[in-house]
Amino acid sequence: DFDYPHTFILLGASGDLAKKKIYPTIWYLYRDNVLPKNTKFVGYARTSQTVSEVRDKCKKYIKVRPGEEDKYEEFWAANDYLAGAYDKRIDFEKLNQLICKNEKGIVANRIFYLAVPPTVFEDVTVNIKNSCIAIKGYTRVIIEKPFGRDDVSSDKLSNHLANLFKEEQIYRIDHYLGKEMVQNLMTIRFANQIFCPSWNRSNIASVLISFKEPFGTEGRGGYFDDFGMIRDVMQNHLLQILSLIAMEKPVSLHPNDIRDEKVKVLRHIPAIEMKDILVGQYVGNPNGNGEEKLGYLDDPTVPKGSVTPTYALAALWINNARWEGVPFILRCGKALNERKAEVRIQYKDVPGDIFGGNTKRNELVIRVQPGEALYLKMMSKSPGMKFDLVETELDLTYSMRYREADVPDAYERLILDVFTGTQMHFVRSDELKEAWRIFTPILQQLEENHVQPHPYVFGSRGPAAADGKLAEYNFKYSGSY
Ligand code: BG6
Repeated sequence: DFDYPHTFILLGASGDLAKKKIYPTIWYLYRDNVLPKNTKFVGYARTSQTVSEVRDKCKKYIKVRPGEEDKYEEFWAANDYLAGAYDKRIDFEKLNQLICKNEKGIVANRIFYLAVPPTVFEDVTVNIKNSCIAIKGYTRVIIEKPFGRDDVSSDKLSNHLANLFKEEQIYRIDHYLGKEMVQNLMTIRFANQIFCPSWNRSNIASVLISFKEPFGTEGRGGYFDDFGMIRDVMQNHLLQILSLIAMEKPVSLHPNDIRDEKVKVLRHIPAIEMKDILVGQYVGNPNGNGEEKLGYLDDPTVPKGSVTPTYALAALWINNARWEGVPFILRCGKALNERKAEVRIQYKDVPGDIFGGNTKRNELVIRVQPGEALYLKMMSKSPGMKFDLVETELDLTYSMRYREADVPDAYERLILDVFTGTQMHFVRSDELKEAWRIFTPILQQLEENHVQPHPYVFGSRGPAAADGKLAEYNFKYSGSY
């Protein structure tokens, strides 16, 4: 298949996601010669502009290393751009003609990337279906969240897509599934006998999955306010991580076997209850390191008095034989003290202590970013004459063990997967349905009751109450998380 012509069509080519993420990604894939030899790119958006104007806008976000200049020229020469409306069939007919020009009448494949606002999702997909399906070859569509904002709107979108495309044609991106350490979760669990038998409620006390960002909504407030932190990060990225940690071993590595297990474990999770959630919103920090940091409500694009969470902590419970009683704590926030995404699997205290209470819990830490790492906190004898205990680590820090170049970017990996037709790291519609089932009731309750978020200062560790909540869930601190 890789010898056939391919066209990658980027809808929403004048938008933020396109210039910051998708154009750079397709350039890196092109540069590294991993795409099919005869691949062309077509940008499409409402803005009327030339390829060279698109190129200028992307410049800030694209890295071109010395020696790559000719290749870079070649990349832009393989690009086309067409301005058109999202709701006009006639414009998509023109798009089709442009794609056909690249194809030269033989078998040819098409990939559509929808980097467009959710309001035009339906129009765009109908128009692709009506006017732009590959004549001979495959047509695949890549879509990005938001996949609706609750169970009803998400089902509506899923039904709409199912009427137009087969599930094998739909690639729902959750870019966390393209991250190295997220992909490593299955290997850690299922290729290590040391973990397999202990991965359960008899040994594990709690699991903490966290996401922290040191910046606020930064002008994206208008968009963000419609969704909030739970929909932006928790319902998708963190829940995906949870399902990979908690699922049973799949029958094989076939994408559907894996996704069957992910859906199955999600089905064991009841909808989140009010008692198991805490929400926060950042306030300004007038003395933050000489640099004033504004609060969420100070953003002019955020509606006055908004109670949209920019921070959330929730405990999820899995009612199956492996996990009953073990809290899975999802925690995420913007405008915090650092950028970090990690998982902490905290084992129970050692029973029958003989060390005078000086042992600490084992903890397996999987750091997704920054700086991929996997380490196991464990107790050891402090070297020397005395018989003292010390908490130490078995440490696999990627930068010490592997070359940086060995860890590809999430988007690069996922877009390449679409070319090769690998759906393993994409979200299936039934997974999405379960995710909304778990989250919709709590989102509705928070909104209907206008629940006031706990304030926390920009640049802090989050609302003070969150630490108390962690203790409630049997998560013991050692250090600062
Ligand atoms: C996106 C969210 O899905 O993920 C953003 O919409 C967030 O709000 C981003 O900043 C985080 O991605 P990463 O890869 O930088 O951790």
